[in-house]
Amino acid sequence: MEFVDVIMQRESVRNYDPMKPVEMQVLERILEAGRIAPSAANYQPWHFHLISSHQWLEKVRKCYDRPWLKDAPHILVVTGNRKEAWRRPDGYNSLETDLAIALTHMMLAATNEGVSTCWIAHFDYQKLRQCLELKSSEEVFGITPLGYPREGLKRRGIKNRKPLDEVVTYL
Ligand SMILES: Cc1cc2nc3c(=O)[nH]c(=O)nc-3n(C[C@H](O)[C@H](O)[C@H](O)COP(=O)(O)O)c2cc1C
Repeated sequence: MEFVDVIMQRESVRNYDPMKPVEMQVLERILEAGRIAPSAANYQPWHFHLISSHQWLEKVRKCYDRPWLKDAPHILVVTGNRKEAWRRPDGYNSLETDLAIALTHMMLAATNEGVSTCWIAHFDYQKLRQCLELKSSEEVFGITPLGYPREGLKRRGIKNRKPLDEVVTYL
């Protein structure tokens, strides 16, 4: 797919086909896109949890209790370690930035494979940390379902965004 088509076609999908798991080779290509993402000082402070087993899907879904999530055959959780992230002398820590880039890489790679995603931040943070049995140094950043959209699902297509002249300053 052309890069411009990938970024135009990516949209949040909240309607998955539970009968169509994503092939392992495809999942690996998506994860690889996260692995090669850039990070500040190349510290790569991330970990990717790919959840596909019935038992783990059940547990993780309880941390974002929306009916549509139950049909997603996979859930990808991105976690990170703040101590492993680059720090600027003024205190800024790049953890969230690095993890956002890695998650975006994987979401765009998924789109390129015809696999749908939806960035989720509104999960129960403490519950998800406990559920994944994360060490105290690990933070949960973002999750996305991975799966094929249900057949016949209408794509919105149109991007509801602020116009360019509102968000750009040419100097
Ligand atoms: C940081 C971030 C957090 C988000 N959290 C949620 C969420 O918790 N639940 C949800 O349904 N969508 C969530 N979204 C999806 C946004 O609502 C969606 O990206 C936005 O409305 C634009 O639509 P589009 O992704 O279809 O282009 C999130 C997106 C981002 C980037």
